[in-house]
Amino acid sequence: MKEKNIALVTEAGNGLGKTFADLLLEHNYSVILAACGESYKLLAEKNDFAAGCELLEVDFTSETRLTELYERIQSSWGRLDLLVNNAEIVNGFGQKIDQIKLCEVKALYEVNLFAVIRLIQVLKPLLDESIAPKIINITSALGDITKMTEEEFCYASYNLTAYATSKAALNIFTALLQRELEPSKIRLHTFDPVLMENCTYNSVVVCNGVKDEFISLI
Ligand SMILES: NC(=O)c1ccc[n+]([C@@H]2O[C@H](COP(=O)([O-])OP(=O)(O)OC[C@H]3O[C@@H](n4cnc5c(N)ncnc54)[C@H](OP(=O)(O)O)[C@@H]3O)[C@@H](O)[C@H]2O)c1
Repeated sequence: MKEKNIALVTEAGNGLGKTFADLLLEHNYSVILAACGESYKLLAEKNDFAAGCELLEVDFTSETRLTELYERIQSSWGRLDLLVNNAEIVNGFGQKIDQIKLCEVKALYEVNLFAVIRLIQVLKPLLDESIAPKIINITSALGDITKMTEEEFCYASYNLTAYATSKAALNIFTALLQRELEPSKIRLHTFDPVLMENCTYNSVVVCNGVKDEFISLI
């Protein structure tokens, strides 16, 4: 039997993270479900993981927890084949410039951007041990400056300053790292789970039209 690949999905307990984890399980992956807070509690209580799943409690904003995560993956598997950066915070919907609270913006950036950078730094040695390592950063069209400045774009009026700017920053970070890692084995992708052709809003499933795209990346 073909040896299973090892994937880590940040926050795979609910929302789209669960969908990504399920798709990975269907495609010869063992999945580390890494969660914290409410979703970790719910997952731990439910205790009904699919075979091939392992639950770990990780707050991605904590350096100590990330080091523990590295050590755990290192001792159990010795490598990582796929890292899906999915965890997010959304806040400040509709806030105008004089309503924005910088402490909320900073808290959001901790998860949506800084944790992604930190996690890649910490786990890169494990990705380097894989034959074909991959990183997928989950993004959103709200971080696409071209789309967001088109009048007719369905999300153009969404006023989510911290979230949208964090995803734009994630996009440029991904593009820069993609170029840096080109000579290495690691392949880096961004993935937007929402089908933009018809602006389907869907908060818990990967839309059918883009599911195949996700599968093609793993
Ligand atoms: N849903 C959509 O329509 C949509 C559209 C475009 C892009 N996306 C992207 O798809 C991804 C998943 O979206 P979603 O809607 O499934 O998100 P979600 O339901 O809000 O889930 C995000 C998860 O991240 C977790 N999280 C937050 N801070 C964390 C931390 N410090 N450490 C560990 N986990 C943390 C949350 O945990 P708790 O449960 O403990 O709060 C939450 O379960 C995101 O990257 C998002 O930007 C979503």
